[in-house]
Amino acid sequence: MNIIAICGSPRKGNTEFVLKRILTKAEELGSSVELVLLREKRIEFCNGCLSCDSTGKCNIRDDMQLIYPKLESADLIILGSPNYFHNVSGMMKNFIDRLLPLYYIEKLKDKKIVEVIVGASGESDAIKKSIGCFEEAVNLLKASCVGDLYLAARKSQDIENDPDKIKKIDEFTEGLIGS
Ligand SMILES: Cc1cc2nc3c(=O)[nH]c(=O)nc-3n(C[C@H](O)[C@H](O)[C@H](O)COP(=O)(O)O)c2cc1C
Repeated sequence: MNIIAICGSPRKGNTEFVLKRILTKAEELGSSVELVLLREKRIEFCNGCLSCDSTGKCNIRDDMQLIYPKLESADLIILGSPNYFHNVSGMMKNFIDRLLPLYYIEKLKDKKIVEVIVGASGESDAIKKSIGCFEEAVNLLKASCVGDLYLAARKSQDIENDPDKIKKIDEFTEGLIGS
């Protein structure tokens, strides 16, 4: 399986750790994997021109041009973000906005997507609302959510230092790749 994970955290913290852990395990199980750290990419804001409506392409010349074909060829896309105000991070939201060309030409139709959120709060409202943001985008793209994972953590190394959460990530990955 060809897997690409997109990390929408501005820091080297929990979201990045979770995605790396999933990818390492998936690689052990035979997948080819790639992690994209949005904070290291030059990705402009969508300028709202809507020209992708007719062209199916984005005319902003930045790092999204390298990411579009990787998304199209992936068997599985993992979207990971911190919970910011019960939403995805601005960095992740901008990435989602830049998927508009793929929305118009339905290039992510039926694509398998996994949603990962890390937030300080483990309350059901925090989980439902932040995961729900990913779900709205996935539905509009006509893609298919094949798994979601919400983990509670606040400081940047909270998950790395928590064996129970690491076990949960590994079990989640085995369920995902094994199925
Ligand atoms: C701007 C901002 C807004 C946040 N809003 C929430 C929130 O609404 N709910 C929550 O549970 N955690 C919130 N948090 C906490 C982060 O989700 C938490 O620290 C998480 O571990 C960050 O993930 P990271 O380590 O991958 O960056 C917020 C953090 C920041 C910086």
